[in-house]
Amino acid sequence: PGELRELLLSKIADVPDYPKPGVMFKDITPLLADPAAFGALTDALAGLCEQHGADKVVGLEARGFILAAPVAVRAGLGFVPVRKAGKLPGTTLGQSYELEYGSAEIEMHADALSPGERVLVIDDVLATGGTADASLQLIRRAGAEVAGVAVLMELGFLAGRRRLEPGLKGAPLEALITV
Ligand code: PRP
Ligand code: MG
Repeated sequence: PGELRELLLSKIADVPDYPKPGVMFKDITPLLADPAAFGALTDALAGLCEQHGADKVVGLEARGFILAAPVAVRAGLGFVPVRKAGKLPGTTLGQSYELEYGSAEIEMHADALSPGERVLVIDDVLATGGTADASLQLIRRAGAEVAGVAVLMELGFLAGRRRLEPGLKGAPLEALITV
């Protein structure tokens, strides 16, 4: 676990002042370009699917898709995309959430999950927790259960874990790295 953490950390680049001054962007593209690191990440997240008894994997557009899709295949589970509003063709459930300035909306196909199904949500980064929290509401509104939320990286100083806690209702939040 310590070794995995070191490997993953070594492949995440700090980009200062992106996308705006004062923000340190965590760039995962070096990790994605390294098959050993990406494979180890995929294995670790697939292990969490099994550990938490997931039946389906939800990925959050866009960077969450990159991580969640191979995890779903590795774990032998179906993949369900939660997309930014207006991108899914079928009947959707929508959930808006607050951003630092303004708000955003994400959507999921209304029939993507079956009642009682256990869902693991995967994303790259937990920052304020707004995106992940909105996805938990979509999953519950679809009648499914939250098996947990798993992220590559939690930005501890933004307190996303605290924002997410009520929505988790006791389900685990797993972060492979906390910075
Ligand atoms: C980023 C990141 C997470 C989210 C975390 O996505 O990939 O999904 O923000 O922030 P939060 O915890 O404050 O909600 P973003 O929508 O910026 O871009 P993406 O489409 O590249 O994933
Ligand atoms: Mg994202």
